[in-house]
Amino acid sequence: MPTLNDVTRGRLLYGGDYNPEQWPEEVWAEDVALMREAGVNLVTVGVFSWARLEPRPGERDFGWLDRVLDLLHAGGVGVCLATPTASPPPWLGARHPGTLPRDETGAVVWYGSRNHFCASSPVYREHALRITADLADRYGGHPALRLWHVNNEYGTVCRCDTTARHFRAWLRRRHGDLDALNEAWGTAFWSQRYGSWAEVLPPRRTQYLPNPAQSLDFHRFTSDALLECFTAERDALRSRTPHIPVTTNFMPLSAGQDGWAWAAEEDVVSVDLYPDPGGPDGAAYGALVQDLTRSQAHGPWLLTEQAAGAVNWRGVNQPKPEGLLRLWSLQAVARGADGICFFQWRQSRQGSEKFHSAMLPHAGPRSRLFGRVRELGAELGKLGGVTGTAVPARIAVLHDWHSWWATLQPGRPSDRFTQEQPLRAWHRALWELNLTCDLAHPEADLSGYALVAVPQLYLLTDAALDNLAGHVRGGGTLVCGFFTGVADADDRIRPGGMAARLREVLGIGLVHEWWPLAEGELQHLTPLGDGQSTAALWREDAETAGATTVAAYRGGELDGRPAVTRHSFGAGTAWYLTTLPDPAALRALLGRAAGEAGLRPPLPGLPAGVEAVRRGGLLFLLNHGRDPAAVPLPAPATDLLTGRRYGRRVPLARHGAAVLRTAPPGGGDGAYA
Ligand code: GAL
Repeated sequence: MPTLNDVTRGRLLYGGDYNPEQWPEEVWAEDVALMREAGVNLVTVGVFSWARLEPRPGERDFGWLDRVLDLLHAGGVGVCLATPTASPPPWLGARHPGTLPRDETGAVVWYGSRNHFCASSPVYREHALRITADLADRYGGHPALRLWHVNNEYGTVCRCDTTARHFRAWLRRRHGDLDALNEAWGTAFWSQRYGSWAEVLPPRRTQYLPNPAQSLDFHRFTSDALLECFTAERDALRSRTPHIPVTTNFMPLSAGQDGWAWAAEEDVVSVDLYPDPGGPDGAAYGALVQDLTRSQAHGPWLLTEQAAGAVNWRGVNQPKPEGLLRLWSLQAVARGADGICFFQWRQSRQGSEKFHSAMLPHAGPRSRLFGRVRELGAELGKLGGVTGTAVPARIAVLHDWHSWWATLQPGRPSDRFTQEQPLRAWHRALWELNLTCDLAHPEADLSGYALVAVPQLYLLTDAALDNLAGHVRGGGTLVCGFFTGVADADDRIRPGGMAARLREVLGIGLVHEWWPLAEGELQHLTPLGDGQSTAALWREDAETAGATTVAAYRGGELDGRPAVTRHSFGAGTAWYLTTLPDPAALRALLGRAAGEAGLRPPLPGLPAGVEAVRRGGLLFLLNHGRDPAAVPLPAPATDLLTGRRYGRRVPLARHGAAVLRTAPPGGGDGAYA
């Protein structure tokens, strides 16, 4: 199978979505000239071009796209060619209303925006495949073609009658007969028993709480139904151009699809990433999405979209302050990206994204923003050597979409969190400690990891439980967060409040009761680090059965009960957190567990706010703090971006970055290994 290496060919990819159909042809030559000036080497064309390519059913208008591809090729710009199937032309919905999705009330979701298709509609699928095949037939041999981009940010949900039939077929495959379905969905509750398959529906609007197991299966089904659309298009492309890799751009940290299952079907894993430049979490959130994407790819990945400046879909949309575009782009490279692309090349003058920034903004080529884009292109040009290289990590943070979906249900002990908040809090703590981590599926091979962290996985399969037990028994460290291992694959609560197998590993007896914390409610703990420790979101009244209490609740209903425990199991160690400690306490705890497991950051004495990541013999230093910083060095080093040589310290401006060669050329791993 072709890979990302076939696209990069030793250069970091740089570019963005290019929508020439929004512009008169005179502009195209200027586009290509400016792309060259900016160091652009890959653009994604045709993402939303279906209505232009097929103006009337069955007609084809490829002439304009021929000219675009030829121009790009002549300018030395490679093409990531998109199948336009995320936004069918109005004629498809008007002629075939069954291609349009329906919401939980049965209302049609109309054309006039985008993503208006029902993944189960055979008519949609047939039309999507036809235009895909025709594109591949026409451009499969074009010299500019480097990568296929299928659809765009899959995620549309439909609950129409066609979907209902498709859902039933999926359920038959998963559960077998109706008795098994009734059993799995717990339909003895509230008289929900199904007597015939025809009665079974996607979750639709109900009077009161819907059946959670039905909702969970519908999430699974929707992910699979959309994946069928992707793989059908992918196969149509592969059969015609087996040498060209295929991707589809994921939404960042999105609950929509099973990201592990989807990534396994792609040649290149890619993601869109839009951290909020005005918020406090942008860099930490970016690092999490990047680690997740690299883990999905099992190696280098592609940043398909980021914003050069402001987006237009938050309440208040702030641009990126000077330096931030460069800093966040380098962060992605540090964490495994082999390409940095944007939405979009030229800012649209019309349509609902005319206030979304672009590489070439309304202010034009003399704009400050385009200046930054040009500088970034030049700098990325110096980092080609990093392409294809790995990001070493000895920590795995476990993540699973099925468990996430199960925590999206109403009727839980607390609606103040889903899986996302604990995941973000734990990953942030590890990121602040400069302990690089992968993310992993709970049933994945964990043998390469010294420490496995489970921020919160409510649903764990039997195989996952065995996997965790095997990791600890074999000498690994497990740090496990609250409300984990509570339910089985059908969202059935396991006796004892947590799977017995996991309690054995953690040295925990019963989990007597869950005691969630209300908004603003503060729970004190015995200290976990320096100073006072507090906790938020959640508490559990859990009893130890072999584990040692490391920290206890102080005050409140659970005064004296265990908040954090530690247990020796087999040759390893298992920690359990019955709550979410405050950021400093969580950092102290994870730092301690990692330290005991022999894990250290890449450099000692890193100032707060500075991220340090190793990749491909390079050490990336990224200053996310509000102030300038200085990083002490154990040996002199050269910054690849500026050519500057540093002796004992590297000064970093606010939003500053340096990329140090840590191994002497041709030599061993040098003083930084
Ligand atoms: C992405 C999408 C792009 C554009 C961008 C704006 O979700 O794929 O087409 O809409 O957001 O931020």
